[in-house]
Amino acid sequence: MVALNVVAQQFQSGAAAAAGATPSAGATPASASASASASAPASPPPAAVAPAPPAPPAFNRGAFSVDDPNSIWVVVDKLRPITDGATFVPPDLVDLPSDMPDPLGYMLRADAADALHAMFAADKAEIGTQLVAQSGYRDYEVQVRAYQHYKDALGVAGADQTSARPGFSEHQTGLAMDIMDTSSGCDLETPCFGSSPSGIWLAANAYRFGYILRYPADRVAVTGYESEPWHFRFVGVDLATEMHTTGVSTLEEFFGLPAAPGYAG
Ligand code: DAL
Ligand code: ZN
Repeated sequence: MVALNVVAQQFQSGAAAAAGATPSAGATPASASASASASAPASPPPAAVAPAPPAPPAFNRGAFSVDDPNSIWVVVDKLRPITDGATFVPPDLVDLPSDMPDPLGYMLRADAADALHAMFAADKAEIGTQLVAQSGYRDYEVQVRAYQHYKDALGVAGADQTSARPGFSEHQTGLAMDIMDTSSGCDLETPCFGSSPSGIWLAANAYRFGYILRYPADRVAVTGYESEPWHFRFVGVDLATEMHTTGVSTLEEFFGLPAAPGYAG
C-alpha cells in the first residue's frame, strides 16, 4: 500500500499543479482527477538510471619487456644485470639540446632526452629554477671507473650503497639522468637536493614527463641504494603515471620483482 500511496500523491500533486491549485490531501476535485487519469501512466515511469561508465582498461604490465635493455621498461638492479652488460650500448643515443645545461656533455636515448627537455622547461616555467643535467649515459668502462672511485673511498660495502657495479647501472641504458640545479648549491653526495625547491618539484612532477625517482629514501631495502634525490629514470608517461596513480614507487614492486638489497653470491 505504501507504493500506491506514493502513486496517489504524485498524481495529486501533478493534477493540482496542472490546475493551478494548492494541493491538499483528500481535496482533489473529481474533474481534475478524471482528467489526469486519462493521460497519466498507470504507474510512474521508472527512474532513469545512468549506465555505469565502462571500466577503464586495466594497465598492461606486459606491454614492454622488463628484461631487454633496449626496452624503456627494463628493470636493472643488483639482481638484474644488463644483458651482455660488458658490451651493451643503447640505441638512439643523442646529445642534449643546447639550451639545457649539460656541463659534462652527457647523452641520453632520444625519447628520454626529449622528455628531459620538456621537464627542464616546465620546471623553469613553474618554479623558476634552472635544472642541470649532471650525469646521463655512462658506458661500461665509465661505470668501471665510477665504481672504482667509490670503492677506493668507501670500500666495497660503502660503494655498493651508492654506486652500481659495472654492468648493473641504469645509466648504461641511456634512460637515467642525475639532475642538479644552478641555485641549490647541492651535489651528488648528500641528501641536500631532495629538500631543495628543484628536488621537491621533480619528485612531485617527474611522472608528467615519464620519469620516476628511482631511489626513494623509503625504499632502500627494495632498491639496495641509499636515497638519490637526483637520479631520475625515464620509463615513459604511461608507466610513470600509473605508478604515480597507484602509489607504487619502485619498478621492483610495480612489476612484482624481488627486492634487490644486495648482489647475488
Ligand atoms: N648511483 C647509481 C645507483 C648508479 O651508479 O647507477
Ligand atoms: Zn644516477
